[in-house]
Amino acid sequence: MSKRKRLFWYSILGLLLVIQVYPLSKPEVKIHNPNDIFNHVKVAGDVKTMIKTACYDCHSYEVAFPWYSNVAPVKWQIYSDINDGRAKLNFSNWALMDKADQADALDNIASEVDGDDMPLKIYPIMHPKAKLTKVQRKKIVDWANNYLDGLFDD
Ligand code: HEC
Repeated sequence: MSKRKRLFWYSILGLLLVIQVYPLSKPEVKIHNPNDIFNHVKVAGDVKTMIKTACYDCHSYEVAFPWYSNVAPVKWQIYSDINDGRAKLNFSNWALMDKADQADALDNIASEVDGDDMPLKIYPIMHPKAKLTKVQRKKIVDWANNYLDGLFDD
């Protein structure tokens, strides 16, 4: 390797090391969530499993951080997805929302999943189980619509 090439690669390596120490607070993780949707609403087992598998890493406090989520610059993207995702919808805070907000959330869930816009496209690449088939998506959409229909009944 020429001196110039070596210098180039050492610079890249140095840069990667330097960005690791850039401070960034990790999204909070909580295991015990009394206001979680599944502590308050009866949901069929398969729908619950799909939502936990395909949505919870970005839309709840129960996040499983894979090893690469600790490595910048990937970490920056993952943390920002979690913060943005939670800001829009946090299943761990479900019971803290009033019914109007829950209704909005259910409506959004149905349309995002129906349009195959959620989970984010990049997610199932590293989490193959989160890849939802058309049939699975329909189950989530039907669940959200049914829940919404009965939401204001009592
Ligand atoms: C990899 C992270 C990630 C996963 C997994 C994920 N989401 Fe999201 N979600 C986001 C982000 C980031 C946003 C906010 C930006 C946007 O709307 O694209 C969002 C936004 C949303 C919104 C609000 C849309 C709006 O415009 O108000 C809904 C509803 C939603 N997601 C539902 C889901 C559901 C349901 C699942 C599981 C089937 C899921 N998401 C999986 C990251 C994720």
